[in-house]
Amino acid sequence: MDARSSSWGNNTGFGSPPANEIICGSAAVFKILLMNDGGLDLIRSDNKCSILPTDKEHVLLAAGGQNALTASLGTLLERGDKLGTDPLTYPGVKTAAKLLGIHLIPIQHNDYEMTEEGIRYAIQNEKIKGIYVIQDYHNPTSHIMSLETRKMIAGLAREKNILVIEDGINNLLAENPLPPIAFFAPEQVIYLSSLSKTIAAGLRTAFVYVPDQYHRSLATTLYTMNISISPLLAAVSAGLIADGMADEIVCGRK
Ligand SMILES: Cc1ncc(COP(=O)(O)O)c(C=O)c1O
Repeated sequence: MDARSSSWGNNTGFGSPPANEIICGSAAVFKILLMNDGGLDLIRSDNKCSILPTDKEHVLLAAGGQNALTASLGTLLERGDKLGTDPLTYPGVKTAAKLLGIHLIPIQHNDYEMTEEGIRYAIQNEKIKGIYVIQDYHNPTSHIMSLETRKMIAGLAREKNILVIEDGINNLLAENPLPPIAFFAPEQVIYLSSLSKTIAAGLRTAFVYVPDQYHRSLATTLYTMNISISPLLAAVSAGLIADGMADEIVCGRK
């Protein structure tokens, strides 16, 4: 399913989602975990609107967000490549980049968000291959990226054919979530989602939306790193989701 064919709330100009598209976020995760049901959404929030409509062909499982991030960097960038980040960013991307010999380039900011000029400058002068962003409840600033900046980054990613690694680890905690960058440029974006911040860090379970062009290589990397995620932890995650406990935990954390 084309991500852009689904619906959004009126604030984004995409209309309201039809009733049969509404499932709660954890139910969607549960389907991915246990049923591998096609045509579902990767993550939904509050039963209100979808975050990123996708299908099982575009979702890979990883052993937590850090595992997914390291696998993505290792798959899509080569030693010596440059990746744009916020000037202040999640320490885990720094350690992963160091391990893999990837150089992180701080992008010019205004009001806690990357500027278009800053990204264009880094593409032209630093030859960055992509950017890493945390769109909701940024670590460490806790900033939520504006809709305009999400659209700007998606547009630039398309125009310049750069990769976006979008870390949506906190997205289920947003009361009225904005669409992720992946929604506007699904073919350019790897979208990471983990249960760590929303349900429990010990579950070590993450979901990765991956576009066709990167699917085979990222699946191979995740197999190389993990063989598979732990079926035991997946069963625990699914159990929490199925009996409604996960929703209670997420609500309690908001
Ligand atoms: C922005 C961000 N991404 C990824 C991670 C790693 O998450 P996980 O515990 O699922 O590996 C964290 C953990 O703090 C984080 O803050």
